[in-house]
Amino acid sequence: MQLAVTGASGKTGWRVVQEALARGYQVRAIVRPDSQLPEGLSGAEVLRLELGDRPALESALRGCDALVIATGARPSIDLAGPLKVDALGVRQQLQAAQAVGLQRLVLVSSLCAGRWWHPLNLFGLILVWKRLGEAWLEQSGLAVTVVRPGGLKEAEDDLASQRLRLSAADQQVDGSIPRRLVAQVCLDALENPASIGRILEITSSPTQGDQPESAQATLAAWLA
Ligand SMILES: NC(=O)c1ccc[n+]([C@@H]2O[C@H](COP(=O)([O-])OP(=O)(O)OC[C@H]3O[C@@H](n4cnc5c(N)ncnc54)[C@H](OP(=O)(O)O)[C@@H]3O)[C@@H](O)[C@H]2O)c1
Repeated sequence: MQLAVTGASGKTGWRVVQEALARGYQVRAIVRPDSQLPEGLSGAEVLRLELGDRPALESALRGCDALVIATGARPSIDLAGPLKVDALGVRQQLQAAQAVGLQRLVLVSSLCAGRWWHPLNLFGLILVWKRLGEAWLEQSGLAVTVVRPGGLKEAEDDLASQRLRLSAADQQVDGSIPRRLVAQVCLDALENPASIGRILEITSSPTQGDQPESAQATLAAWLA
């Protein structure tokens, strides 16, 4: 498996790269020209480009079996950021994928994507633009899985005790999940064809007693 990951310098993106390397994938980590590289990218081929540079993006995706999109507008005073990254940036990526014959994509989106009335929309209507990015992917004819996580957490210490809560679109409105688990679910979804054409909303919480079922098994059972 040759996997491309965009937004690979981000806190979810580098974990997707790291998890993919651990699963034996070859990974192209796609970052911006000025992105700071996290340590988690070591072992991946790093490619620096702007999403709007179509020849460079196509060249980066050519020969890849799949793409995980982990780009997302960083908080800033530029309220057009979410439009540019979460909608138009996703479209740039899907068009480049189509151009090079890359069929399989997983998008890291967000719980509540598509909602107009939500505090997160104070940042440039981000949830509206995220839904537009999702919709363009759904209409692209590509084999797409949309993963919508809840609030993202850096903590990884209680990962083994996390029980995954998985639902279809527009079922969950709050909750959180460690970024590491999101990265794992993205790859589990990639490896499970039953996830194609689905929106997966994911949050998690620690169990008090027994070891929970693995996220991979939870996903497989849910998709069956
Ligand atoms: N934060 C949350 O609680 C939360 C909850 C649900 C969903 N999400 C979504 O989950 C995804 C991952 O979130 P995260 O917090 O792990 O990400 P993050 O650390 O903020 O990383 C964002 C990534 O997107 C890249 N990016 C930003 N603007 C770009 C542009 N114009 N062109 C190309 N790349 C660009 C960044 O590159 P640079 O390193 O160069 O800036 C970085 O690699 C995002 O889509 C986010 O909106 C977040």
